[in-house]
Amino acid sequence: MLQWKKNRKILLAITGGISAYKTPEIVRAMIRSGWELEIVLTEEAERFVSPMVLSTLAGKRIWKQADYLSDESGWRIPHIALAEWPDAVMVIPASAESISRAARGEAGTLIGGILLATRAPVLFFPAMNVNMYEHPATIQNIKTLSSLGYHLIEPHTGYLACGYEGKGRLPETDAVIHEVWRTLCPDRDLEGKRVLVTAGPTWEFLDPVRFLSNPSSGKMGYQMARTAWYRKGSVTLVHGPVENRCTHGIVTVPVVSALEMYHEVIRRTEENDLIVKAAAVGDFRSSEIAPQKIKRTEDNVLNLSLVQNPDIALEVGKKKREDQILVGFAAESRDLVENARKKLARKNMNYIILNDISAGEGSGFQSDDNKVTVISRTGDMVSLSGTKEEVAYRIWDIILSPKERPGIFE
Ligand code: C5P
Repeated sequence: MLQWKKNRKILLAITGGISAYKTPEIVRAMIRSGWELEIVLTEEAERFVSPMVLSTLAGKRIWKQADYLSDESGWRIPHIALAEWPDAVMVIPASAESISRAARGEAGTLIGGILLATRAPVLFFPAMNVNMYEHPATIQNIKTLSSLGYHLIEPHTGYLACGYEGKGRLPETDAVIHEVWRTLCPDRDLEGKRVLVTAGPTWEFLDPVRFLSNPSSGKMGYQMARTAWYRKGSVTLVHGPVENRCTHGIVTVPVVSALEMYHEVIRRTEENDLIVKAAAVGDFRSSEIAPQKIKRTEDNVLNLSLVQNPDIALEVGKKKREDQILVGFAAESRDLVENARKKLARKNMNYIILNDISAGEGSGFQSDDNKVTVISRTGDMVSLSGTKEEVAYRIWDIILSPKERPGIFE
């Protein structure tokens, strides 16, 4: 796990909206993320979600409005103790009423008191009927909250519990967790930067049902994109066919073949500051795609004629400006460093990440872990290993501040 992700303390404030019924699932995900939790409910929230379910899942008592200034526990001043404790506060769902109250700085409720007293970052997840969300009064309140330094996470668009279609859905649980990570991420060195990442394999069809491909899972590229987003980059991910992952916050461009990937990357090359080519692009495609399924042959042989796909990284390398950074990946099985260095020079890359695909378990295709060597244009090298998320994060550390980190290349 990334160092800054360890031992985080999160205060979950639940207010009275129908999507509060999703919060037990969110609590489970928070516990899986290793977070220590405190949970506060408004009186209205108690009507949408059972305090008993929440306290059972969290394994501890939860805080209710009745605890605020009560004879029983009021002397403990829960709103101050709870305000001082967390690394981040999330208001989820944030009802129209709770947004309005927070914009006015009310302190008549336990949550209101906590919001005024805390110095931790606060994330609001508005979720409500689309008309309520788009009402000028709500828009005004949201603007006020933003100007006060709160983080407002836009609701998703879709089917709403009230029967309407539109903007107002609570984002999926993984998206909620990623938003908190993004807020807690200590590095914001990609703020204002545009990052393009490619990931996954390509499929080069031979006939309507068969294709040439490779076992790339897209995990490394996904982590390069996700960690760039944590560091506040505006991220676009061009990916081949891969399993579904939470792409919240990332612009995704799904493609199938190398030629499609080529077109999608080239048309975005100019506008991006950093381009990371983590995709395992097919080097060859069939010279023609058979319109019908290819049949078995009499003589047990099938000759395929293949043509070479464009080398996307090479084309980007030719086009790129001096101020743009191009990072490639190289999956090599022999003469590793030598081949990677040649590739870096030929494709005009700034860095190449060498993946030893013969290293076996704990690295390469499909694995959640990786062992890589980062090679810079000047020939410096550093080896990294860990989960693909950790490796991706360290790669950004190296790319984004090589000079401020002397000794990073051993
Ligand atoms: O396939 P190769 O080892 O040359 O890949 C090195 C780098 O070039 C990788 O970053 C890969 O994504 C990129 N590449 C590409 N287009 C290709 C082949 C490779 O962009 N047709």
